[in-house]
Amino acid sequence: MSEATQSLYERVGGEPAVARMVFDFYRRVFADPLLSPFFQGIEADRLQTMQREFFSAALDGPVRYTGRPMRQVHAGLGIELRHLRAFLDHLMETLEGSGLSEQDRYDIHSRIHTYADEITGRIAPDG
Ligand code: HEM
Repeated sequence: MSEATQSLYERVGGEPAVARMVFDFYRRVFADPLLSPFFQGIEADRLQTMQREFFSAALDGPVRYTGRPMRQVHAGLGIELRHLRAFLDHLMETLEGSGLSEQDRYDIHSRIHTYADEITGRIAPDG
């Protein structure tokens, strides 16, 4: 299949590559003193499984996300734009080591960024 017809999920390297990416990404997130307090007491295994599904689905992989809705999961945690920015910076650093083209890396970033308002609760649920 040519690069143009492959999904982002396939270009990244499929399931094993997404699993590695999520693992590496969370290592960075948990090591960041700005972000780690949010994850105190959270079950890391479940979080990584859910994130793996979420990322796979967001990259058009053959995976269905079975976790809770983004807004519901993050409501009331006090996540501000600076936290979201730091989180996405770690994502970009993770992707830089992945061998993906710059175009693919920015595509992934913008897909994940689509959820920004749901994560920070900036818009009321009904609009
Ligand atoms: C666009 C960015 C983000 C995406 C796509 C995302 C996605 C997810 C997903 C898929 C889960 C698992 C849901 C489940 O267990 O059902 C989750 C959980 C969580 N996220 Fe995020 N997240 C994002 C940003 C953030 C940020 C910036 C923070 C904090 C600084 C954060 C903190 C958490 C915490 C604490 C949980 C666990 C909540 C719990 O189990 O009660 N997330 N996120």
